[in-house]
Amino acid sequence: MHITDYSEYQTDYQKSLEEPDLFWAEIAEHFHWRKKWNKVLEWDFEKPDIKWFLGAKLNITENCIDRHLESNAEKPALIWEPNDSSEKHKIYSYKDLHSEVCRFANVLKKLGVEKGDRVCIYMPMIPELAFALLACARIGAVHSVVFAGFSANSLSDRINDAAAKLVICSDAMCRGAKQLAVKNTVDEAIKNCTSVEKVLVVNRLDWPIQLKPNFDYLYDIESKGISDHCPATEMDAEDMLFILYTSGSTGKPKGVVHTTAGYMVYAAYSFKNVFQYDNNDIHFCTADIGWITGHSYILYGPLLNGASTVMFEGVPNYPDASRFWQIIEKHSITHFYTAPTAIRSLMQSGSDYVIPYAMHSLKVLGTVGEPINEEAWHWYHTYVGKERCQIVDTWFQTETGGILISALAGISPLCPAHAGQPLPGIQPVLLDNNGNEIVENEIEGYLCIKFPWPSILRTTYGDHERCRQTYFSSYKGYYFTGDGAKRDKNGLYRIIGRVDDVINVSGHRFGTAEIENAVNQNKNVIESAVVGYPHDLKGQGIYVYVICKELPTGEEQNWLRSSIIQTVSEEIGPIAKPDKIQFVSALPKTRSGKIMRRILRKVAEGDSTNLGDITTLLDPLVVEEIINGAVL
Ligand code: PRX
Repeated sequence: MHITDYSEYQTDYQKSLEEPDLFWAEIAEHFHWRKKWNKVLEWDFEKPDIKWFLGAKLNITENCIDRHLESNAEKPALIWEPNDSSEKHKIYSYKDLHSEVCRFANVLKKLGVEKGDRVCIYMPMIPELAFALLACARIGAVHSVVFAGFSANSLSDRINDAAAKLVICSDAMCRGAKQLAVKNTVDEAIKNCTSVEKVLVVNRLDWPIQLKPNFDYLYDIESKGISDHCPATEMDAEDMLFILYTSGSTGKPKGVVHTTAGYMVYAAYSFKNVFQYDNNDIHFCTADIGWITGHSYILYGPLLNGASTVMFEGVPNYPDASRFWQIIEKHSITHFYTAPTAIRSLMQSGSDYVIPYAMHSLKVLGTVGEPINEEAWHWYHTYVGKERCQIVDTWFQTETGGILISALAGISPLCPAHAGQPLPGIQPVLLDNNGNEIVENEIEGYLCIKFPWPSILRTTYGDHERCRQTYFSSYKGYYFTGDGAKRDKNGLYRIIGRVDDVINVSGHRFGTAEIENAVNQNKNVIESAVVGYPHDLKGQGIYVYVICKELPTGEEQNWLRSSIIQTVSEEIGPIAKPDKIQFVSALPKTRSGKIMRRILRKVAEGDSTNLGDITTLLDPLVVEEIINGAVL
């Protein structure tokens, strides 16, 4: 399961092409199974219908926790660092984690949660968030984590889509200098959710909360005197493990479904090999558990390998821009994994915050979520890695479950701003406009994958046809990623970005239609069009063209802008706030009514040359108005 040098990588890669069943079966041997599989893989990308380790029985938490107890019970499993550096951190050994997860699982059972029930988890980055996910997995409930920065409306949509029976939340949360309500947001969200039978509240900040009898339950009370032993429920390899919502090109986010055995095998395998995790290493991934990176590389991947994983409640620039570096020194962290946005923002704060921190323990640095520009890569390498750490630029998606394209730290050739080569078992291809595979190097195309890997999504919850259409219908026989990529002369991949109507803001995905729907909820708005544009810190910023009843002027424009931003915060969450809003009298549409986004994108990028043929527009004059009014 562990690749130790480049020639081994090449051999394993070749083997994964020639004998995929054997290749994955050998890796799967490293886990604890209640019953082994009858068959490794069955697949059909047209339906799609993908099954791994058919007939096998297991519980992922026995692999994450129980099997480490014999030899590593006292080893730190979870190291929790609070928002406020003056508050004490917490360390949970594997034994502690076992007790906490079992207690949490017993509380869930007491509240009536059963195998197959969906549980929505809406919490800040506190240890109970990790316990809650693992507790669901322990009893076979399906967790659906919603990032705590999403609004009540977004939460409500996700609860309804999954028909969640229980919501787990906290009273409140802290983020930097701010304290924010959580339970109140849940109360607001569930007004429209008939599936929710109970809400379980974990205390974080001692906020007074109103408890509805027989509906709201406090974790502190429910867990009093409860046993810290809970037998793990036996799961089928293809039983659902979790749902995670992600945005696509339509207005409605979709629930990506991952199942038990395949996700487990790939999360563990990719963690071990990409980061070259060694027994006493301490891994710090700064993502939130509300995203796939947090699921796979804070929680499941590290725990499956018996690693020590760090969970940080706060933000990179509170109390100042040295917070990450303090944490690295405090806990002797060996692996640090973050997003290019965070690197760019810390770089902008100035190198003086990082220079005093020698961070001798660091060995490997990682990035994820968006393309990293060379300037940020070099800053990361020089100031954080002190020119001695390996950097891995890891490409993956909510749908892929784990990292598919990345260097293996210290093993693969390093190339700034390139994700690099596929992991063994991953067969990426670049397709041209006609859907043909391009075999040469030094080219660019649509990134597809032509063979399944264990943690590929199985469906989109409640709507299999949507899964088929989104990922498996654009190019027959391939999984389409929605990304464009280049392959250089050495066969290394460089991800360019989305080629669909999805924008990537600070590593978070939003559909343009999703933001338009939110903007259109503002009562002053008649129509809107959203595009992404290059943004120095966020990677992409959100640019909105808005048509109001009357074209606003002067002060009125400022007032309307604030009002629209407020609406988007309420509809989706503050993370989707527009960066620029331009008021227009019309949008460039073809005679058939289709918005020509190409023109809007160019103007938002500040480039009004080469707009292409605009004669097919219903009203070509509108283009001039848009160029003249561009917010630059
Ligand atoms: O466009 C790619 C970008 O993020 C998208 C996946 O977003 P999400 O499902 O939210 O998962 C983010 C964390 C894995 C991809 O389609 N992306 C992800 N990693 C990279 C990246 N773009 C460039 N380089 C990466 N390393």
